[in-house]
Amino acid sequence: MLKKVQLWLYAYCYTTILVIVLSFLKRLRMSHNNGTTAVGKITIVDNPAFPPHPFFAPGREFACRLRHASVSYDDDTILQVRAASLKFADSFWESPLDLEMNTGGISLFWSARNFLFFFTCQGMVNGLAFSTYYDKYPVGLQAGKEGIRRYPSTFAQMYYHTQTVQFFIGNDGVKRYAKFRLAPANLGPETGLIPMAELANRWVETAKPGETLSQNYLKEEYAARIAAGPVRYVLQIQIHTPAPTDTDEVFNCSVAWDEATHPFLDVAHVAVDRLMTLDENNLMRFAVNHCPPSLGMIPAASIDDYNSINYMRAASQAAKSSRLFFYKIFGLPAPVPDARSTPTT
Ligand code: HEM
Repeated sequence: MLKKVQLWLYAYCYTTILVIVLSFLKRLRMSHNNGTTAVGKITIVDNPAFPPHPFFAPGREFACRLRHASVSYDDDTILQVRAASLKFADSFWESPLDLEMNTGGISLFWSARNFLFFFTCQGMVNGLAFSTYYDKYPVGLQAGKEGIRRYPSTFAQMYYHTQTVQFFIGNDGVKRYAKFRLAPANLGPETGLIPMAELANRWVETAKPGETLSQNYLKEEYAARIAAGPVRYVLQIQIHTPAPTDTDEVFNCSVAWDEATHPFLDVAHVAVDRLMTLDENNLMRFAVNHCPPSLGMIPAASIDDYNSINYMRAASQAAKSSRLFFYKIFGLPAPVPDARSTPTT
């Protein structure tokens, strides 16, 4: 009981800080602020290879919105994690399912306790981001190495993972577990990957001196790509069927499930063909607890429970609503100007 109260306090005190500092004072998302949103359609595959599931009925269609983002900085040229948030509705908020995904198969943090420590390690040390956190958690450092992308050529050619685990309860009623990823439809090589050897001494997360590329280059590329025709992806799933030998490690989002035993199976074709405006993009909100019970969140018992990560995310809803509320009062954020752009006239 005490552990649950502690988890509640962690999640809601943290949310209160977000509401005050980020939503009210800065009118920013806590992260993933630098993004762009497109509208399109999701079609569930005709012959799923996963156990029949009520939500993913073959051929079922949904309108959708897909928001791509560079996670940490306003400048697309800076080396950082990239993201895709997929809403199974053409809506700013309501939706039967939202999936929030980052590049890299594993997460930098895996419990409410170490997430909050991560949050306190924002300052740079000798130009290196999250240094104190990485010193304490080498697994987090590895996740950072796997998740960051340098000069990706496009948002459309990266692989985005939910990393955390949720229920998958099929028509047979068996409680299985799932992770998702959004992949380019061609399943081709990922852009922006960095050889691990180059990251041995960590990495710098600032713009290159003398950088000439637009700090909005990724968003601009995506806009041009959509103007030329639909951008296509495939949504895939990994499923874990519980076994008597399982431990809680199954839920550890800093450990990837072995693809040999948990292959990625196609769930749906995703195609987006219309870009939204920057204001509309800013009004978007996604939520990890937008899911049917058959894909529901797994309960968490304490701040060390692996599922406490999703508990915290669900609890951050107030921060998202406040962000919108303060937009109404103070206006929507202005576009980030490209400091490096040269006037054409
Ligand atoms: C593996 C873990 C996580 C993943 C993969 C993840 C992914 C994401 C993604 C993709 C977005 C962008 C949503 C958008 O496009 O609007 C986002 C935003 C956000 N995340 Fe996370 N997240 C994780 C953990 C957390 C945790 C532990 C918290 C704690 C509260 C959190 C709180 C937030 C908040 C407040 C936003 C901004 C939402 C808004 O203002 O609309 N996330 N996250």
